Amino acid sequence: MKNRDVAKLTDKYVAQTYARYPIALVRGKGARVWDADGKEYLDFVAGIAVNGLGHCHPAVVRAIQQQARKLIHVSNLYHILPQSELARELCHHSFADRVFFCNSGAEANEAAIKLARRYGAAHLGGKYEILSAHNSFHGRTLATLTATGQEKVRAGYDPLPPGFRQIPFNDLRAAEEAIDPEKTVGILVEPIQGEGGVNVPDEDYLRGLRELCDRRNLLLIFDEVQTGLGRTGKLFGYEHFGMTPDIMTLAKSLGGGLPLGAMLAREEVAQSFIPGSHASTFGGNPLVCNVGLAVLKTLLKDGVLKNCAKMEKVFVRGLNQLKDRFSFVKSIRGKGLILGLELEIEGAKIVDACMQAGLLINCTAYKVLRFVPPLTITPKEIERGLGILDKVLARQ
Ligand SMILES: Cc1ncc(COP(=O)(O)O)c(C=O)c1O
Repeated sequence: MKNRDVAKLTDKYVAQTYARYPIALVRGKGARVWDADGKEYLDFVAGIAVNGLGHCHPAVVRAIQQQARKLIHVSNLYHILPQSELARELCHHSFADRVFFCNSGAEANEAAIKLARRYGAAHLGGKYEILSAHNSFHGRTLATLTATGQEKVRAGYDPLPPGFRQIPFNDLRAAEEAIDPEKTVGILVEPIQGEGGVNVPDEDYLRGLRELCDRRNLLLIFDEVQTGLGRTGKLFGYEHFGMTPDIMTLAKSLGGGLPLGAMLAREEVAQSFIPGSHASTFGGNPLVCNVGLAVLKTLLKDGVLKNCAKMEKVFVRGLNQLKDRFSFVKSIRGKGLILGLELEIEGAKIVDACMQAGLLINCTAYKVLRFVPPLTITPKEIERGLGILDKVLARQ
């Protein structure tokens, strides 16, 4: 089947929730993918920050094969060794004491919201309200889209569940003023906003939120679905800011491309979940957790985090050269390998033209080109990709 045939099939039978590009990707290796017509692309999208180790990394393939031969799925009615081991590793390398496993970022945030509500009910006199930020993105379930600070995500889903309110991102005073002493149980925030346009807060914002939550007895919840697992050059985004949250959510690259989400919490908070309070049929099954273990081990052992921090410098240098050359480039933002190039023009046609020229990138917030390549990317690949982007920008 060629690109056109796959597109026809999609258009006829698949729910129309995605505006798709007219190519079908059928094969990948490292930072490269091929479409059904045999064309090769350099992939700076990486499944939107999912393929942190690149496509079909040998450690991921091996973990899938080995576990698939042994045991793919059993219920959480029983103990699951890879799940327990992955929980141990996540806790050893973070602030957390316990992990709840699920299948996606939205589900991880849903679990965080439910845990916060139970904690509020048990310890804070029934407080339940979550404050989240304008331009945030937390998922597409009813609760998480209500927490999401983007009107377009919420449109058409009224009535939305109560207990959510948005505050401006990167504004400590607004956060403090928004707290309702009767209702607010916690603040949910991405350390760097991904979908909202790669927005990095000021150095002291997250530390300020921590201090605020301590002073007002609130839970601080970090959505690290996009920033977690090495994306910013450290294992978790919060590590850049010298503080820890009470709850953190992960997904995207945790499963190396398999659906795996996790909600981590410190003990006192985690205790508000008891048997029966939350569950997921597939969450934490042997196959995905064995892959999660391989992803984590590879990230920690193979110099991937160091590579990410090094490649940030190479990438940002290249983006600065583009900024110097093109007056419609406004700013460069991000950390590690979640980087954005803010333009004064719409990004969609640039994304299209790059794709034609063999480079996959993505655009968020209409005018921000987003780059979330594999963390294993090489200087040569960055140079080649930015070379393509340079030629495309020169035609604008
Ligand atoms: C920060 C953040 N949270 C949550 C989500 C939702 O994740 P999922 O699509 O796996 O439900 C995303 C997805 O882009 C995200 O970037």
